[in-house]
Amino acid sequence: MKSSAPFSKKGRIFIILVAVGIVIVAALFLFTPKTQAATDQPIAFNHQVMVQLGVNCLFCHSEARRSPAAGIPSMEKCMGCHRSVDPTNPVIKQVADYYNRGEPIPWQRVNQLPRFVFFDHAVHINNGQNCEKCHGDVGHMTVDKPVVTMDMGWCLTCHEKQPNGKQLQDCVVCHR
Ligand code: HEC
Ligand code: HEC
Ligand code: HEC
Ligand code: HEC
Ligand code: HEC
Repeated sequence: MKSSAPFSKKGRIFIILVAVGIVIVAALFLFTPKTQAATDQPIAFNHQVMVQLGVNCLFCHSEARRSPAAGIPSMEKCMGCHRSVDPTNPVIKQVADYYNRGEPIPWQRVNQLPRFVFFDHAVHINNGQNCEKCHGDVGHMTVDKPVVTMDMGWCLTCHEKQPNGKQLQDCVVCHR
């Protein structure tokens, strides 16, 4: 009598291998940090060029020292230099077009916490934490991208090392 199984032994081994393969690929997807991809920006903004020429982080992100958000520089700030610096560069022309239309550049966020988390740049900057600790070497990035996954474990790992680590791990510090 012929076997009633729909597949031969070889066929069954093949199906099992494919199934195992799918599980592995799915697992890789699930456990790959989701914040590592670079974001597509409306303007090809290159940190490395301007930072290596000596423009300071806080010149452009001036709110970082005094408020929760670091802030993205206004187009006025860009044009303050670029009316005269490199005005024929096609990317600078794109910036000038936005400026002349009075339309803000729709920059995409790179690092973003969920809304139920409170973060404050000023507190960190004024307590000796520099940008590189959390954002990596942005001054050598042509496209800025996250260097860490900014999850709760990451925040707490640094907080517990502080002299007042106990208070800094209190839920209400970050969930207000
Ligand atoms: C202790 C870690 C930490 C340090 C230090 C830090 N940042 Fe941030 N930064 C973050 C986190 C977390 C976010 C996301 C905040 C959110 O979504 O509310 C962020 C977001 C940003 C953003 C986008 C949103 C915004 O706030 O405008 C900019 C720009 C930024 N950081 C620049 C800087 C610069 C420049 C410095 C140094 C002067 C700096 N950061 C220092 C953790 C840090
Ligand atoms: C303090 C002055 C200053 C400010 C402010 C400034 N830039 Fe620049 N930027 C420069 C200099 C200097 C260069 C290099 C020009 C060159 O190589 O000839 C440059 C180069 C550039 C380039 C060309 C980079 C490349 O890949 O060749 C772009 C694009 C640019 N800036 C965009 C901006 C944008 C957008 C802003 C505002 C967010 C801005 N800049 C603010 C000084 C400035
Ligand atoms: C010439 C102005 C300029 C300077 C100088 C500058 N930045 Fe920025 N930065 C920008 C602009 C414009 C953006 C938004 C576009 C982008 O993300 O590339 C940005 C974005 C960022 C972001 C991502 C914000 C987000 O959405 O999470 C970080 C982090 C950051 N900058 C950190 C730094 C650090 C650290 C330095 C100094 C090493 C620095 N920047 C210097 C203009 C500047
Ligand atoms: C690299 C170290 C480091 C990391 C990472 C870090 N923090 Fe902090 N945080 C500090 C230090 C240092 C202080 C100031 C401590 C003090 O008040 O003496 C602080 C203070 C704070 C405060 C203010 C507390 C108060 O009493 O006003 C908040 C809110 C906060 N952190 C939120 C966060 C969140 C949310 C994250 C993660 C997204 C984070 N921090 C990641 C080092 C860090
Ligand atoms: C230093 C900052 C910080 C402190 C302190 C903190 N959290 Fe969080 N928490 C975060 C951040 C950032 C996130 C969002 C990222 C994530 O999900 O890991 C988060 C997310 C969460 C979430 C949502 C998790 C999810 O999967 O969506 C819960 C629930 C939570 N926290 C509870 C707590 C409790 C309870 C405490 C006190 C024992 C606490 N947190 C203390 C920073 C903090």
